[in-house]
Amino acid sequence: MRNFVSVHDVTNIDALVQKALAYKVNPFVDKSLGINKRIGCLFLNPSMRTRLSTQIAAQNLGMEAIIFNVGNEGWMLEFEEEAIMSGTSVEHVKDAAPIFGKYFDVLAIRTFPSLKNKDDDYSELYIKQFIKYAGIPVVSLESSTLHPLQSLTDIVTIQECLLNSPLTAGSKPKIVLTWAPHVKPLPQCVANSFSQWITTWNNADFVITHPEDYELSEEYTKGATITHDQNEALKDADFVYIKNWSTFNDYGKMYESDPKWMMTNKKLELTNNAKVMHCLPVRRNVEVSDEILDGANSIVTLQASNRVWAAQTVLAEILKQNG
Ligand code: CP
Repeated sequence: MRNFVSVHDVTNIDALVQKALAYKVNPFVDKSLGINKRIGCLFLNPSMRTRLSTQIAAQNLGMEAIIFNVGNEGWMLEFEEEAIMSGTSVEHVKDAAPIFGKYFDVLAIRTFPSLKNKDDDYSELYIKQFIKYAGIPVVSLESSTLHPLQSLTDIVTIQECLLNSPLTAGSKPKIVLTWAPHVKPLPQCVANSFSQWITTWNNADFVITHPEDYELSEEYTKGATITHDQNEALKDADFVYIKNWSTFNDYGKMYESDPKWMMTNKKLELTNNAKVMHCLPVRRNVEVSDEILDGANSIVTLQASNRVWAAQTVLAEILKQNG
């Protein structure tokens, strides 16, 4: 693995999941792997879980992690080729990225979409420019369209739950990704990425449910069953993943925030006593009710704690394969 920006960088999801679960049992087994190595974590946008779990993962491997909140502490970067920099951006990524490449052995970047221009966001210019100019492996800490470390974590968490409570032999779990209301338009990253990873993993009966007009890009949903009937989708689900996203076609809008899409205990009754997932942060009693988040079916804390093992697995693979 050279970079980790999408599921396409992974040859065997199950092998990564097994490694992550092994790190959970024995976090320091590869403590010498990252000795004298340094990871730079650049945040153009806020984070809690991604920042801390990546830092802990690096430390578990003996790496030094340096966090740089570029978004509010660094010079404003320009990403367009041949830009005439007479506006607000101060430094071109062409000049900054090679320096990061000298300071660090691995570069990790979080950058959100603008939600203003679909073509710009879906071009993934920011992360591609870092890959082009840094000269070292690049890890996405969430980009304009995808959140691969979150998705790997999600499959690790699903697999962990299945190991502790196996389904009938030979049957696949039913996993439902459901849209939920929110107070503002959010990126499609987590939903795109979860769908991309689950359909590639191909070990589940996967259903996506959302209101009309909230279709995700078909690039990520091929292989999923899509319905606008949330109750129908939830029937017999083993895992329910709750997430808001803004519109993809008429890009970046929030047409509605219908509270009837909020996940509640009443809806949980339709499922097969489903485990409830959310990447966090979550808007309580908007996306998901208190009763769900505080109830026995919620695995959101387990999910967030597993971010460490997913990040550690990815960093270990990169260190092993890039010397
Ligand atoms: N799920 C997630 O990426 O959380 P943070 O935004 O806190 O990193």
